[in-house]
Amino acid sequence: MQSTVAMPEALPYYLNFLHPLMMWGLLALSGYGLWLGIKAKKIRTGTPEERKKLISGQFGKRHYQIGSLLLAFMVLGTFGGMAVTYLNNGKLFVGPHLLVGIGMASLVAVAAALTPLMQQGHVIARKVHVGLNMTLMSLFLWQAVSGMQIVAKIWENRPA
Ligand code: HEM
Ligand code: HEM
Repeated sequence: MQSTVAMPEALPYYLNFLHPLMMWGLLALSGYGLWLGIKAKKIRTGTPEERKKLISGQFGKRHYQIGSLLLAFMVLGTFGGMAVTYLNNGKLFVGPHLLVGIGMASLVAVAAALTPLMQQGHVIARKVHVGLNMTLMSLFLWQAVSGMQIVAKIWENRPA
């Protein structure tokens, strides 16, 4: 059936690079978030001397703040990538980059939703949080590779 939605004029070319740039920034931020999370764990499980040294760093609190930023920007980045792709092509490409991206946004939402339980000292919630987010980090690396393949294609098809 013919779509009744009028297609907009092609978007400015540079908009294609917004999502990739944002996602590289987000990858760096999630590396930092991981580091903070590991420090937070050390505060919980380290020797008394280690804990004393680390406690003033407020790693748990900083991890929570960076985690909240990650949640917000991953959701925005995912829908942003889909929006730009749709506006440029009049459709989405249901391929690995799209499906893994949707999966990642879901993982980070569930991981963040476990926060209240973790704060009550729920061990299983904490283990699940770490498991989900380690999966998230692995998928992120893969997403960077498949994302750069899309960037290469967009570059090859750049307007003259
Ligand atoms: C890159 C993604 C993330 C990674 C790799 C990660 C990893 C971790 C790790 C390793 C811990 C320590 C667990 C332990 O003590 O055994 C932790 C704790 C925690 N995470 Fe995350 N996390 C991520 C994202 C998030 C997000 C999105 C939120 C919420 C918005 C969040 C909130 C928390 C909280 C509240 C704690 C408890 C901190 C404390 O000990 O005070 N994390 N996380
Ligand atoms: C460094 C990492 C990444 C790069 C270089 C990258 C690159 C790209 C590019 C070039 C596009 C096409 C956009 C356009 O047509 O202008 C795209 C689409 C998309 N990206 Fe990424 N991306 C990355 C990470 C991510 C992550 C982490 C997610 C989700 C968590 C994600 C989700 C999406 C989605 C859902 C689309 C729409 C795909 C489609 O409908 O075909 N991307 N990405």
